[in-house]
Parts: sequence; structure tokens; C-alpha cells
Amino acid sequence: MSSLPRHVLVTGGAGFVGSHFCDRLVEAGCRISVLDDLSRGKRDWVPAGASIYEVDIRDRDGVAAAYADARPDAIAHLAALHFIPAVDDAPELADAINVGGTRNVLEAVRAHPPERLIFASTAAVYANVSEPLSETRAPAPIDVYGRTKLAGEQLVEAFATETETRCVNARLFNVIGPRETNPHVLPEIVDQVRSGADELELGNLEPKRDFVDARDVAAALTMLLENAEPGAAAYNIGTGTSVSVADIVRTCSKIAEREIAVRQVPERMRAVERQVLVADVSKIENAVGWRARWSLRDTLTELLA
Ligand SMILES: NC(=O)c1ccc[n+]([C@@H]2O[C@H](COP(=O)([O-])OP(=O)(O)OC[C@H]3O[C@@H](n4cnc5c(N)ncnc54)[C@H](O)[C@@H]3O)[C@@H](O)[C@H]2O)c1
Repeated sequence: MSSLPRHVLVTGGAGFVGSHFCDRLVEAGCRISVLDDLSRGKRDWVPAGASIYEVDIRDRDGVAAAYADARPDAIAHLAALHFIPAVDDAPELADAINVGGTRNVLEAVRAHPPERLIFASTAAVYANVSEPLSETRAPAPIDVYGRTKLAGEQLVEAFATETETRCVNARLFNVIGPRETNPHVLPEIVDQVRSGADELELGNLEPKRDFVDARDVAAALTMLLENAEPGAAAYNIGTGTSVSVADIVRTCSKIAEREIAVRQVPERMRAVERQVLVADVSKIENAVGWRARWSLRDTLTELLA
């Protein structure tokens, strides 16, 4: 049964990925409500006309009251503590938001479950291996963030067995694009290039990641929600190609049409546990016909303009 819900409540809908997703849902004709504590997200990024519930996802009663008031057909649960250094600095907070918050959402909707639910999970649920990661691979997260998201997926899977709700665990790879809220390496590079620097101060250059544009992610989440099947299923959202930090700098140099050197500075070096993180995207391509349209070069060209 492929159909787009009429009304979607998006937790974290004022954030980076969430706001692009809301834009996409509105374009597709959906009504949206947003639940967000605005700790990272911005009210201005929420499409006009949407109801905003300014609620902390850890507030069980507040989440239940927002759901009861909105009465959506579907829930997209994106609110989370996502930036890995922030999670590592505050693992208990990450657990309360990412796991406790997901539990609160599922408890809030249990009495009147929505038709569909999509949960923003992550590539960080996978083991530390370099080959393209398929959903058939057993999850084996190596950090706190990945463990909190895997716990969220498992809560969603249990919920799907107890209700009629069609559930999706969407495993996002490295999302890039306008409105990025967290100080990841790509916005750092873009900021330094835009400032006119000919020598960038960066940390590790070798790690390779699968960078996917937020507009593509928004389209993928919409198509997964539309085509959700009974039960719970996991889908990767990535491009299927991996790119190093050094490659990003080279692409910026071509776009800016100037030589850009790099100086590695110790204070920016991080203990990197994963050298390569790349998606196998055959499942989502086959199931809903989605594939990324934005190239890294196009996204960078827009960000550098
Ligand atoms: N950006 C990525 O590369 C990426 C990759 C994998 C998974 N994800 C997942 O996608 C989702 C969205 O990530 P994002 O990049 O848009 O991050 P983000 O920080 O921009 O968005 C999270 C949103 O949740 C809100 N939020 C945070 N804590 C909250 C709380 N306690 N109560 C209510 N709202 C709260 C924030 O204000 C923000 O609007 C997250 O679940 C994240 O784990 C993102």
C-alpha cells in the first residue's frame, strides 16, 4: 500500500535534516507538525503554517500531549543528540535523549498508533569494516552514539511487532548541505575556503565517508514513508561512494579555481576509529527506486557560492 500520510509529526523537524524533510513533505502535499526543543534547530527553518510544539523529547508527558493534540497519521522521529564529540562528552545525556526520547515517542503513540513511523538511525550502527555496508549485516556499533541509535532501532522493531504501524529504520550516512547545525568537517572546510584562506587548518585527511545531500535524504525519507510495509525494515541512505577529506579539499579547490593547501594541526586531529564508511544502497534503490541526485561537487558549489 503506497500512499503518503496526510499529516506527519516530525520530531527534530527544526533541525538540519528535519527541516529539509519538512520542506519535502510540504511540497508533496502533506500537512506537518514539528516537535523540537529548538536546542539546535531553528524556528525559521520550519515551513510556514506548520504547528510547532516546543517540547524536550525527554519530557514524556509533553511528548504525549503534543501527539494527542496533533493526531498525525505518521511520525518521523529525528530528534536526537547527534554530534559524536558531544555524545562522547555526555553519554548519559545522549542515552536520555536518543534512547529515552525514542521510548517516550513510542509510549506516547501506543494507545492510538500512527499508520506509519520512520526513525532516523545511522550508519554508526554498523561494525568497523571498509566494504560497502549492507542492511543484511548484523549491527555492531563501536561508539556510544551508534549504540544509542541501535537501541532506538530495537525499540522501533519491538513496537512494530506489537502494533499495526508500518515502521522504517532509516540509516543515514554523512549528510551534507545547507543549514548544517553541527560542526562537522565539511562545513569547517567550506567556512575556511569561503573566508579566502589559501591554506586550510584541518585534522585527519584520510578517513573516507559517504556524503549524501540533505535534499536527497529528504526525498529518500519521504519515499520510504510512502512505501512503508507492515513490520519494521532498515534501509541505508547514502550514495554508495566514499570520499576522503583530502578529496573534499581538492573539489573545493577546483570550484574556487585556486590552489588550496592544507596544514594538519594537532588540535584538530581526532582519534578516528573508522577509516572508511560507505553504504550499499541496492536495497533502497530496488525497494523504492531512490538514488542520490546531488553530486558532492554540486553541493559544495552551492555551499561555497
Ligand atoms: N546529519 C547527519 O549526518 C546524520 C547522520 C546519521 C543520522 N542522523 C540522524 O538524523 C537526525 C537529524 O540529525 P541532524 O543532522 O538534522 O541533527 P540536528 O541536530 O540538526 O537535528 C536534531 C534536531 O533535534 C532537536 N533536538 C535535539 N535534542 C532534542 C530534545 N532533547 N528534545 C527535542 N528536540 C531535540 C534539535 O533542536 C534539532 O532540531 C538525528 O536523529 C541524527 O542522529 C544524522
